[in-house]
Amino acid sequence: MVIIAPSILSADFGDLRQQMKMIERAGAQWAHIDVMDGHFVPNITIGPVVIKSVRGGSGLFFDTHLMIQRPERYIKAFSDAGVDLISVHLEAETDVDKDIELILAEGKKAAIAINPDTPFKRAGEYMDRHGDKISLLLIMSVFPGFGGQKFIADVLPKIREARDYIDSAGLKTLIEVDGGINLENIGLILDAGVDVVVAGSAIFKSEDPEGTIRRMLSANNFKS
Ligand code: DX5
Ligand code: ZN
Repeated sequence: MVIIAPSILSADFGDLRQQMKMIERAGAQWAHIDVMDGHFVPNITIGPVVIKSVRGGSGLFFDTHLMIQRPERYIKAFSDAGVDLISVHLEAETDVDKDIELILAEGKKAAIAINPDTPFKRAGEYMDRHGDKISLLLIMSVFPGFGGQKFIADVLPKIREARDYIDSAGLKTLIEVDGGINLENIGLILDAGVDVVVAGSAIFKSEDPEGTIRRMLSANNFKS
């Protein structure tokens, strides 16, 4: 069954706790949390303080997407804030091997993220080295920085390549895709072999966010 990870980037930040409750009520088990630092990407979003304040009272799995230039400086703070998984970008100015070890040492799940123009091969090198210690591979289907962008269909072959690699290596690493996903294109993405679907504006800008999450959760029913 597909995991839907609503991206709270498009949620009403003044009412975050209620929005987290709505996600849970709709049956999604994850929340995708976009952290931006104004350096790795032009935008600035939220940090550990806000995450900590919504952590209490939420049973969701906190999937934290770090779009920051120096993740090693903040991994402990995010861990202390109570996140469950931390992903770091291979394009950041950082030693990703070290970051993975830091995340694991904090007792959290480690993930790596790649931009639309980064070939799967680069992620594969880390997966060769770390195997199942990488719990998730995040494949961006828009350039990181903003919600509400258009899905880049060119990433579909890369998703299939990642699926083949993971299956033939016998790894349990999940594949997550993030950016521009909606009810119209989710079927395509699931067909390519994705495990975790991130969706922000398609959920929070819809008339019925809860219903949209429910429809996304049952989208694998028509997976070919
Ligand atoms: C983009 C973020 C995404 C974004 C997805 O930098 O990583 O998680 O919130 O939003 P939508 O679904 O609107 O593209
Ligand atoms: Zn994201």
